[in-house]
Amino acid sequence: MEAVAERFDADVWEGDGAMLRDDLLQRVRGKTGAITLLTEKVDGELLDAAGADFRIVANYAVGFDNIDVEECTSRGVLATNTPEVLTETTADTAWALMMSAARRVPEGDRFLRSRTPWIWGPEMMLGQDVHGKVLGIVGFGRIGQAVARRGKGFGMSVLYYDVFRPSSDVEEVLNAAYRDLDELLAESDFISIHVALTPETRHLFRREQFRKMKPTAVLVNTSRGPVIDEAALVDALEAGELFAAGLDVFENEPEVHPGLLEFDRAVIIPHLGSATVETRDAMGMLAVDNVTAALEGRRPPTLLNPEVWEARS
Ligand code: GLV
Ligand code: GLV
Repeated sequence: MEAVAERFDADVWEGDGAMLRDDLLQRVRGKTGAITLLTEKVDGELLDAAGADFRIVANYAVGFDNIDVEECTSRGVLATNTPEVLTETTADTAWALMMSAARRVPEGDRFLRSRTPWIWGPEMMLGQDVHGKVLGIVGFGRIGQAVARRGKGFGMSVLYYDVFRPSSDVEEVLNAAYRDLDELLAESDFISIHVALTPETRHLFRREQFRKMKPTAVLVNTSRGPVIDEAALVDALEAGELFAAGLDVFENEPEVHPGLLEFDRAVIIPHLGSATVETRDAMGMLAVDNVTAALEGRRPPTLLNPEVWEARS
């Protein structure tokens, strides 16, 4: 925020939580650019409200399903996101969810806080081993690969599914093998989702997919909520089709399906994937650098629609 204040004549939203749509449509009028959060929808309506001077929308997130990039492109508006700077932190979050879901950490914590009398016992709150297991990564981009890299330290074998195949040296370095989605679901002990939300990945995980998993499997999602049919996941968990789920994102955020709130082996956190001091600083500075570049006539570092830039220069 200091960098914003130093560099721009900025109209800063100081309210709690997301901006109301009407406020946003009002306040964007006449602006030359905007830094947006994933709670703000950037579509034709917003771009029309902004007007002809609007040159850049810098999303403070790597995911950009809240931005209609095509609408930006057709109006000559540059759009940027914050990749790279949050890759390792988000991979850490996926691992935190994997470990805590497999080993029932939040459940144990809740149990102690309930002050229920207890004594150590051989079968108390048994979980699943993490080390030495099969880690399946769905979406093998930057974050998926960072999750895979951590798997090596736990002696895991790594499978991945993606519509894009990485170069064979990536497979070699990460010791990762390609599987189609059905094979990956059947073979993996841990499944971590790292796809972008697109029409193709919406409800990629439905009841049918849960039925293919091992009953001991742990599913983790740090990507976008709608990739999972949340009601179907609740049914699958209740039916014992998988062991546990670790979820950072939800289908109807900020709402969480009541079935997940009730289910002890669903580990749920409020979209904290990149939420560390260091990473949020880096994301902020990258968003500011993107806006600065655009307004100074330089190519923004992490541009989503390079064709807008190329058409200009
Ligand atoms: C957060 O969800 C992001 O996409 O950066
Ligand atoms: C458990 O605490 C053990 O010592 O095995």
